[in-house]
Amino acid sequence: MNKKIAVLTSGGDAPGMNACIRAVVRSGLKTGCDMYVVYDGYKGLVEGKIEQVDRNFVSDIINRGGTILRSARLPEFKEEAIQKMAIKQLKDFGIDSLIVIGGDGTYRGARDLSHRGINTVGIPGTIDNDIASTEYTIGFDTCCNTICECVDKIRDTTTSHQRCTFIEVMGNKCGDLALYSGVAEGVEMIITPDDPITDENVFNKLKSLKGGKKKHSLVIVSEKIYPNIFEFVKKVTQETGIETRAEILGHLQRGGSPTSKDRIEATRFGIAAVKAILDGETNICLGLRNGQIVRIGIDEALEMKRQTHPELLDAIKLVNR
Ligand code: F6P
Repeated sequence: MNKKIAVLTSGGDAPGMNACIRAVVRSGLKTGCDMYVVYDGYKGLVEGKIEQVDRNFVSDIINRGGTILRSARLPEFKEEAIQKMAIKQLKDFGIDSLIVIGGDGTYRGARDLSHRGINTVGIPGTIDNDIASTEYTIGFDTCCNTICECVDKIRDTTTSHQRCTFIEVMGNKCGDLALYSGVAEGVEMIITPDDPITDENVFNKLKSLKGGKKKHSLVIVSEKIYPNIFEFVKKVTQETGIETRAEILGHLQRGGSPTSKDRIEATRFGIAAVKAILDGETNICLGLRNGQIVRIGIDEALEMKRQTHPELLDAIKLVNR
């Protein structure tokens, strides 16, 4: 009998999710599986928003941002009764395996389903790059490029007015978006959870820059460091005498057409997820290690501690001190 595989996206959407859905559906069909999609993440799974699809369903989506399957956050998915409703839906459709594309929260849902006997495979998809079991998550490269485009524009006006601008970027509790885009933009300071820095040090560093030739500065800050960045920059202005502004890039960081890197990694992950199911290896998630796709037990993956890239950590220290 044909394998019946479903795919869903959950948590914050990320550019490249569509390319991944496409790869899952097309490689599944090519290898003789019946392919299903679930709309609206785990919420849609519980509600039975499931549909069997053919190859045309995923035509012309490789270049599209967002997720055609839509996404949702469902904190209640922790509850046994809700999980059992999801399992019933899968059984009613005769689906034997589920591929989930998302972040840690999505993986936790997959782990719970796997503990209840559902074959699951997780694919890392989030702009945050914050999953410990992989060195790369789908969407991160596009998001870094989007941030760089915005910072380039902010740089123009910051230079013209000889100001300082703090740019707050996403990342949840992970500093990678700030770190990578900050290094790529050559900004004056990068403030992330990886390199805690006191307010006093921030003021001193900005004052020392003011004494030099360059009369403007850009600072990239991870979200959740300052409870209110607009209040903080008022303080910066007061303490340093430098006219300082703040920009929160917000959800525009999650949109846009995926870069070629995200399309390619998403395609590799999608093909590898179907292959893992056909090999009989499930209750895993996929990760990239030294550029190779690896399979990791979902329980183990969720216990792993994330390491920030050591050379980039050195870079941040050089910038901030
Ligand atoms: O996980 C992706 C992410 O964009 C985080 O960077 C951010 O903290 C969060 O999602 C925002 O979530 P929401 O779109 O639900 O406000």
